[in-house]
Amino acid sequence: MKKMLVTGGAGFIGSNFVRFVLEEEHELEIINLDALTYAGSLENLKDLSDPERHTFIQGDICNRSLVDDLLNRYSIDTVVHFAAESHVDRSILGPEQFIQTNIIGTYTLLEAVKDYWLVKNALPLEKVRFHHISTDEVYGTLEPDDPPFSETTPYTPSSPYSASKAASDHLVRAYDHTYGIPVTITNCSNNYGPYQFPEKLIPLMILNAMGGYPLPIYGDGHQIRDWLFVEDHCDAILTVLRLGSPGETYNVGGDNQPTNLTVINTLCEIMDECLPESAYVPHEELIRYVTDRPGHDRRYAMDIKKIMDELGWQPRQSLETGLLKTVEWYLNHPEWIEAVKEQTNYQDWIERNYEKR
Ligand code: NAD
Ligand code: DAU
Repeated sequence: MKKMLVTGGAGFIGSNFVRFVLEEEHELEIINLDALTYAGSLENLKDLSDPERHTFIQGDICNRSLVDDLLNRYSIDTVVHFAAESHVDRSILGPEQFIQTNIIGTYTLLEAVKDYWLVKNALPLEKVRFHHISTDEVYGTLEPDDPPFSETTPYTPSSPYSASKAASDHLVRAYDHTYGIPVTITNCSNNYGPYQFPEKLIPLMILNAMGGYPLPIYGDGHQIRDWLFVEDHCDAILTVLRLGSPGETYNVGGDNQPTNLTVINTLCEIMDECLPESAYVPHEELIRYVTDRPGHDRRYAMDIKKIMDELGWQPRQSLETGLLKTVEWYLNHPEWIEAVKEQTNYQDWIERNYEKR
């Protein structure tokens, strides 16, 4: 039985990954280490297919003695590292926690696996793997005619968030290069789908549209993101764990680059169809242009040829099918919305920031 430590497995992508892997891999046990910040919730881990193969531990990845204890106690052979502060706007308002979790936390995990796998020689090195989840934002921003980011694009991160993720990627590579820890890295584009905390663009727009709050577009709305349905990202990570070579980086993306305005208009059309009786139809009337994000990256696009050609992965959902699934999920899970709102004082935040129509 493989023993996998998943960090940040109560967050958006981490919880989708836990659910996905328990269904896909039957000879595997997951230890899920998560601090349960505002972004993590046990609500995200209800209804797992095989809960007896999942153990949840509330704790901080910066806590070295806790991480040491978990590696030893469960004989961990695989670490899949999601835990991070993940929201760009929050990193602009207060970078400190991003430096702590994203850099010091990653360093703490790397030191702990070095000690357990190398110094203590607890497991054969060919059986272990440290997989780091990263982002396309480490590559910076693209001009309209630039080719998409490839695995060899130089790092030029723009925000405190992306700078902290870039630092963590460099540390992961350094622990491979210097000490020989078997690592893989995936750099992925914008994810969306079930269980995403409604501060990120797509779930924020869905919840605001449901409640009749404004749909804020930063700047002119012509920024471009490469959107990927979260289950496709989980599939890519599992593919890399199964087939990827140690020391390699794989770019992951959805191979679509709409403007934010296109995404929001498409969402409004889906909401109009799903909620024809709503007082807020047509939902596009809720759109408001607001002050731009400082240092806002204009365009991201991912070249995903390497993971497609070498490992045979490809995204299954188009933006249209993925957005429809996502809207339906939020409309069908009012209990999740209520629980998350209650845990995070969300409604107060919405009412402070957005005026209802
Ligand atoms: P999220 O904010 O939804 O979840 C982060 C999780 O980490 C939460 O459960 C939180 O409680 C936990 N956490 C935070 N600090 C911790 C700490 N010190 N110790 C233990 N747990 C801690 O994030 P997400 O969107 O699911 O992103 C997961 C990972 O994927 C991050 O590393 C992020 O950089 C990366 N990523 C995200 C996207 C995206 O579009 N969301 C795209 C590419 C890469
Ligand atoms: O690209 C991968 C990254 O995608 C991940 O590494 C990050 O963890 C994740 O948060 C996401 O970062 P973005 O900044 O791209 O995502 P966000 O949902 O915050 O914003 C998406 C786009 O929408 C961006 O151009 C800003 C814009 N936006 C966002 C919000 C919240 C708006 O116009 N209005 C909004 O209210």
